Amino acid sequence: MSDPDFLVVANRLPVDLERAADGTQRWTQSPGGLVSALEPFLRSRKGAWIGWPGVPDVEVDQFADDGLILHPVPLTSAEVRDYYEGFSNATLWPLYHDVVQRPVFDRRWWDAYVRVNQRFADACAKIAGQGATVWVQDYQLQLVPSMLRELRPDLRIGFFLHIPFPPVELFMQLPWRAELVRGLIGADLVGFHRPGGAQNFLWLAGQLISLEPSRGAVGVRSRPGHVQVGDRTVRVGAFPISIDSAGLDALARTPEVSKRASDIRESLGNPRIVLLGVDRLDYTKGIDLRLQAFQELLQDGLVAPEDVAFVQLATPSRERVEHYQRMRGDIERIVSRINGEFATVGHPVVHYLHQSVGRSELAAFFRASDVMVVTPLRDGMNLVCKEYVACKHDQKGALVLSEFAGAAAELTSAFLVNPHDLDGVKRALHTAITLDPAEGRRRMRALRRQVLTHDVDRWARSFLDALGA
Ligand code: ADP
Ligand code: G6P
Repeated sequence: MSDPDFLVVANRLPVDLERAADGTQRWTQSPGGLVSALEPFLRSRKGAWIGWPGVPDVEVDQFADDGLILHPVPLTSAEVRDYYEGFSNATLWPLYHDVVQRPVFDRRWWDAYVRVNQRFADACAKIAGQGATVWVQDYQLQLVPSMLRELRPDLRIGFFLHIPFPPVELFMQLPWRAELVRGLIGADLVGFHRPGGAQNFLWLAGQLISLEPSRGAVGVRSRPGHVQVGDRTVRVGAFPISIDSAGLDALARTPEVSKRASDIRESLGNPRIVLLGVDRLDYTKGIDLRLQAFQELLQDGLVAPEDVAFVQLATPSRERVEHYQRMRGDIERIVSRINGEFATVGHPVVHYLHQSVGRSELAAFFRASDVMVVTPLRDGMNLVCKEYVACKHDQKGALVLSEFAGAAAELTSAFLVNPHDLDGVKRALHTAITLDPAEGRRRMRALRRQVLTHDVDRWARSFLDALGA
């Protein structure tokens, strides 16, 4: 294998190693939007992907998968606890998502974060070809750009943040704020979903490490800001991520998916309206809020229980982190309260699956549903809403979408809601449930135009062009 000239570095590989109780092992697709978006792009481009195989204390050799080189980076159980569950997901995740939960600042976790970031940088420095392009991903690896530049100044380094970059007042809470900015500034291009994130970062580079950032407004895929670091110019821009829209559109049109979609409706008892939520089970996603709004619609008599089914698919996520354990209990209580009050024997009103489903099955759920409910309190982009739109070639279906998802800036024909305003969410759900079909088609046509013309390839090309790769 020759040294790769294009590398992605992310906390996770696109596949997770699963070990069964009997000792057998298999690889399954990793959860989350980062992998959903990047995997199809990287498979078409070849190259290498450096990441953790998803279980602690295993050493796996580099291997090739359909032309893509997968290079595993091992983590010990203590590192999973301190670097992954701790600093990444109990410090940075809540801090960057508007402090929806209180972030924990623990010095030992920070030490583990530095150590693991160095391991990723070392792994990348070792295998990258001369002058290669390296694309570092997300909040778990914000120190890698500078560490890597130190080891390999010949590389072209890009960094993209898949989650929101917070308001500066919140970022300033972080005891290691200057270190993180210094880490990111090692890249040639730092990318965010929204111009606001890029601008916040530029301001912080001025405040925290005394650089002189550009002052003009940053555009979407245009007019990146910049900051001079010695003889290097670091560019800072906004690149809203997307999905493999054409691939999903084609999948949703297959006879198998159509058949499965009508089977799903049938097994739900052919209700008049099917509402759907699809998320990682994460407290930022507002799953509890949407269920509460739905419950109140039933209680107010605005929706009849025999007319509706609410399907909530929730991928298990970060199950050992306390915030997540608490939220799972809360959601499961709401589900059973609604069913306790409104179900009849054999006919639950809420169908809650704490499971991950395959791509075709997911496309069938999207096709089977009339109202897609996406209500995060904060989300960098949210790909689920774009996936829903890509599956609706029949132009049926309505999207209820939180204003606080990055996608809201693009999907303006959705029913946009403030998820903190329960009455507003109820109103939007009710409007979507009782929508005039012609108005629904008009909105869905506009949504599809946006999603089909702004796919993940366009995102990746715009980032890599700006990086000069
Ligand atoms: P995040 O990256 O925070 O999880 P996104 O909405 O950006 O949120 O991406 C989530 C990805 O995970 C999407 O591609 C979505 O289809 C997938 N996904 C979420 N829940 C499930 C589920 N229960 N089964 C299968 N895929 C899921
Ligand atoms: C989000 C993050 C990703 C992460 C994914 C799944 O999409 O931006 O970096 O991989 O969630 O979370 P997990 O902790 O399971 O990797």
